[in-house]
Amino acid sequence: MVISAYVAVVSGGNRGIGREVCRQLADLGHTVILTARSESAAKEAAGQTQAQTRLLHHQLDVTDPVSVITLRDDMLAQFGRVDILINNAAVYLDKTARSPLRDLDPSILEATMKANLIGPLRLIQAFLPGMLDRGYGRIVNVSSDMGRMTELNPAGAYYRLSKLALNGLTRMVAADTASNNVLVNAVSPGWVRTEMGGSAATRSIEEGASGIVWAATLPDGGPSGLLFRDGKELGW
Ligand SMILES: NC(=O)c1ccc[n+]([C@@H]2O[C@H](COP(=O)([O-])OP(=O)(O)OC[C@H]3O[C@@H](n4cnc5c(N)ncnc54)[C@H](OP(=O)(O)O)[C@@H]3O)[C@@H](O)[C@H]2O)c1
Repeated sequence: MVISAYVAVVSGGNRGIGREVCRQLADLGHTVILTARSESAAKEAAGQTQAQTRLLHHQLDVTDPVSVITLRDDMLAQFGRVDILINNAAVYLDKTARSPLRDLDPSILEATMKANLIGPLRLIQAFLPGMLDRGYGRIVNVSSDMGRMTELNPAGAYYRLSKLALNGLTRMVAADTASNNVLVNAVSPGWVRTEMGGSAATRSIEEGASGIVWAATLPDGGPSGLLFRDGKELGW
């Protein structure tokens, strides 16, 4: 299938890593739809981001099923397809660095799962069928080292559990799509200087975003169902 530029949707594109992913994908010549839960934030970020091609914008709250379906319908009406899905949006609701497991609040875990696991699932359900029909798709679930099996401990437990589950979702979806040229991977950006990562983080936003863009633009026959950082495989 030869298409010079793909249509890419990025969740949580108004700031941080998501916004930089939008810029890098647009610089590669792709049509990028920068989404944010606030319509005005999406418009402002798209307008302010300098890229080779125009960035489009759309409202998307990943926890709102109506918002996801509206995005899907508008994308299909406007472009007839979405080729690349970046599940970037996420929340980190852990308030203390380390809480004993007995003190975990299930309602905070629920809110975290809603954004970090069920949101990506809804978006995959919205766009995967079209990708499978067309025989082309790239899905990147932005994960974290904190969700790796080898890194499980109670520090940041809500977030950790959500990324562990997102890694599991990545493997399950990938197992279903391998023969259709739809590559589904998880990417850890490392510790990045954003609102979530904080100013002490070791990596720039550009560095964090580039490994996500790498997975979003894998050639046909590329890897699927794996966890990467900077294009290198990490164990689960
Ligand atoms: N920074 C790090 O060190 C680090 C490390 C490992 C993994 N990650 C992962 O990298 C990704 C990006 O993180 P970041 O550091 O750029 O975080 P960030 O600066 O906190 O940005 C998070 C983005 O997600 C959006 N978002 C949150 N809930 C949403 C919802 N319900 N619907 C739509 N958008 C929503 C936010 O929108 P609002 O502006 O509306 O809040 C914001 O655009 C996340 O998946 C994160 O888990 C980050």
